[in-house]
Order: sequence, then structure tokens, then C-alpha cells
Amino acid sequence: MKINIFDSKKELYDAVALYVIDKVKSNPEIHLGLATGSTPVPLYERLIIDHKVNHTSYKKVKSFNLDEYIGLPRTHEQSYYTFMNNNLFKHIDITETYIPNGEASDILAEAKSYKELLEREGVDLQILGIGSNGHIGFNEPNTPFDSHVHIVDLAESTIKDNARFFEGNLDLVPKKAITMGIKDIIAAKEIVLIATGKAKSKAINEVVNGKVDTFVPATILQKHPNVHLYLDKDAASKL
Ligand code: PGA
Repeated sequence: MKINIFDSKKELYDAVALYVIDKVKSNPEIHLGLATGSTPVPLYERLIIDHKVNHTSYKKVKSFNLDEYIGLPRTHEQSYYTFMNNNLFKHIDITETYIPNGEASDILAEAKSYKELLEREGVDLQILGIGSNGHIGFNEPNTPFDSHVHIVDLAESTIKDNARFFEGNLDLVPKKAITMGIKDIIAAKEIVLIATGKAKSKAINEVVNGKVDTFVPATILQKHPNVHLYLDKDAASKL
């Protein structure tokens, strides 16, 4: 596990953006695993600026998102479908993007077909955030490490963490989601996990120094051969 710690968020995001852009330039057909939430937004902002200024192209890139809420129409501002369009896709020249469909009438069939898609295509570089409870994607504590795409009940702590996107109202936060499983996530050839802020420091310490245990799902990353952590000082403060 390669650990990069930065004094400021700006330095962190400048560095991680350079890293990702370099990967896209050296493999214009790269398969990117993408994440939502607050963490990747400053990265996406930099990818957009670079695309506009330096013309890095995503025409042949394919992207695969980690997860999607169940129970929100995709037109809802907080659906990850709309989030990805607003924060990245509509600003660059990417054409082939995949996000699990949280509105599928047969959600189990959707989970199966997203798993098969991931197996067929494979992810080269997975961008990850981390929940304050150590979740990756929406794989909450105690998710088996051999899980594939599945339907989850969001943890109490995740509903609280995400309420800020829903007017602070816990009742408006969807309670279920469809997510890549842990096995799908760690099948990526390379993983870049970004974490900022003190609220993530405990989970980050577990990822680096803790025992590999399903109780903190991200600890599985210790077993992956090619993981890069990008941390600001606050997220790294318990290391
Ligand atoms: P955040 O979420 O980036 O909004 O903090 C991260 C996550 O839950 O994985």
C-alpha cells in the first residue's frame, strides 16, 4: 500500500488528478471505476479543467460506477446517475458510462447483469472514497469479502452521513442501495483511495494498521497488491 499524505486538500487533489490524467493519457481505453459523494468532486473538477485546457480525451474510456440508491428516480439531483452527469460526464467527451440502475423493476436481475458486466469488462483503475464507518462503495460493516454486486440496507451511520445531501433530513435519505460487492471492487487492477478530514481518520488508521476484518470493509485493501492512498493531514492524523 502506497501512502501519500498532503498538507492541504489542494495539493492532494492536484496530485491525484495528475495521477489519473496520466493513466488516461497512457491508456486512452482505460476502464475507470468511479465513485460519488463529496470526496471525488475536486478530482472531477480537475479532470474537467484538464479536458477543456489540455484536451485529454475520454472518448474511448469506459467508466463503471460503484453504486446507486434504490428508491430515487435517476432524474433526482442526488441520484448517482444525475450526480455523475452533473459533476463529470456532461463536461467531458466520455460516451460509455455504466451505473447500476436503482430503478430496475427486477433489482436482483440488475445486480446479476452489473456483476457480469464488471467481469466481462474489468476495471483498470478504481477511484474510492471511504465511509466514516470504513465502508467502500455501499459495503457496510460485516459485508462478506467475497460479495458481488448486491442490494444493501444502508447503515444508520451512512444515512446520517449522507443526510447533508438531503436537506439534513434523515427521512429523505434512501435506505437501500445497489452496490458493487467487495470482491468486484478489489478485482480492479489498481485502486486509488482518497480521504480527507478528521471524520475519516479512524477508518484510515484501521485500513493501514488494523486487522483485516469485515467489520471495517476497507481493511481488505491490505490484501490488494496495488493500492494508493491519497490523504490529507487530517485523514492521516491517527496514523
Ligand atoms: P463522502 O463519502 O465522499 O461523501 O465522504 C465517501 C463514502 O461514503 O464512500
